[in-house]
Amino acid sequence: MPVLEVKKLQQIFEQGTPNENHALKSIDLSLNEGDFMVIIGGNGAGKSTLLNSIAGSLPVSRGQIKINSQNVTYQNVAKRSRLISRVFQDPKSGTAPLLTVEENLSLALHRVEWRNFWRTGVKKSDQALFREKLAQLGLGLEDRLTTEIGLLSGGQRQAITLLMATIETPSLLLLDEHTAALDPKTSATVMELTDKLVKAQNITTLMITHNMDDAIKYGNRLIMLDHGQIAVELNAAEKKGMTVPKLMQLFKERSGKELNNDAMLLG
Ligand SMILES: Nc1ncnc2c1ncn2[C@@H]1O[C@H](COP(=O)(O)OP(=O)(O)OP(=O)(O)O)[C@@H](O)[C@H]1O
Ligand SMILES: [Mg+2]
Repeated sequence: MPVLEVKKLQQIFEQGTPNENHALKSIDLSLNEGDFMVIIGGNGAGKSTLLNSIAGSLPVSRGQIKINSQNVTYQNVAKRSRLISRVFQDPKSGTAPLLTVEENLSLALHRVEWRNFWRTGVKKSDQALFREKLAQLGLGLEDRLTTEIGLLSGGQRQAITLLMATIETPSLLLLDEHTAALDPKTSATVMELTDKLVKAQNITTLMITHNMDDAIKYGNRLIMLDHGQIAVELNAAEKKGMTVPKLMQLFKERSGKELNNDAMLLG
């Protein structure tokens, strides 16, 4: 039974106006439990639109989205967030800066009963768990439970955001260029960490990246989007033997043009 099924998904912006934009044109996707799919593509190809549609932060124009066989196409973001965790590019977006490390983790762990949090604060019984989880990051954060998150570096914050997103195993993890704002070394650390957490908990994951090396190195499946369509799709076996030049060549053959992504060229 697939964890995620996307059927004939279309996303049309400004429909009926001269600016009508078919950002997604009939996308079909199916992810089984533990699949780690990487998404790459040029600027404006529709990568973020796809993740936003799956998360429910964009109403779908046409098509269907199922998670765990449940039709969530018309479910709001809040309801879907019980199944989905997300991490975005901006390290500031995933954590509350004025709350401490343990308060942020506590909110993530008890998000269903967050109202109680303000009365009870961080449970003593959770602190050991947080310390253990933080120690696994290998960033020395286990000694900083009571530090305000806003005082940490971007990489440290992004690592904690990732921990928060996975502290209760989500049905689906959506990562939208979550290492793009970090320096290369920190980005590599957070990518390694992502891979470790995803594998340890067998989390079904969709990850957008503009880093071609990461796209090839991580995950068991890969798609390349071009103008709202899947131009290239690789399964686990095809992905194993892939190299960056081969992938660029494949994209050129299928789409008739070179891959154009500002971030990619800079990287
Ligand atoms: N909320 C919106 N309203 C109108 N148009 C939008 C909206 N979101 C995205 N678009 C348009 O849809 C297309 C796909 O955008 P999207 O953000 O999904 O691209 P992307 O592949 O994530 O690109 P990038 O690599 O630059 O992040 C673009 O033409 C964009 O301008
Ligand atoms: Mg994007």
